[in-house]
Amino acid sequence: MPTVLLLSGPNLNLLGIREPDIYGAATLDDHVATATAVADDRGLELEHLQSNHEAALVEAVHGARGRVAAIIVNAAAMTHYSWSLRDALAAFDGPVVELHLSNTAARESWRHTSVVTPVASGVISGFGGHGYRLAVEAVWLLLK
Ligand code: DQA
Repeated sequence: MPTVLLLSGPNLNLLGIREPDIYGAATLDDHVATATAVADDRGLELEHLQSNHEAALVEAVHGARGRVAAIIVNAAAMTHYSWSLRDALAAFDGPVVELHLSNTAARESWRHTSVVTPVASGVISGFGGHGYRLAVEAVWLLLK
């Protein structure tokens, strides 16, 4: 069964209480449960890591090389500045789906830049919690 790594960046551990008007009332555990259920349906194994530390996320991408079929990444604020995460993802050999709950293009201008997008297969942004379902479906289509 192919493994998909879901990576969650800084502050996403606070989902449910953090700016619910923007990010919704669901917790990260809720989103991971959704993604896991869709992955099960599609014959994929989902692994999840949330970290507030750039190095932990970079090392998770390194650890995915040659082992994991695809990566879904909501890098949160690191999306906009983390060149080390960008370079790690560029060295990963499978599909990478960039995911955001909010529509970052419709928010503050500093959120319009993503250093992840150029190394991603595609971006899912602005669909709230549905994005987790859509991201797993996208990965499944890309791996088929
Ligand atoms: C986010 C958007 C980012 O700009 C922000 O820093 C986040 C969450 C999203 O899922 O909408 O923490 O990645």
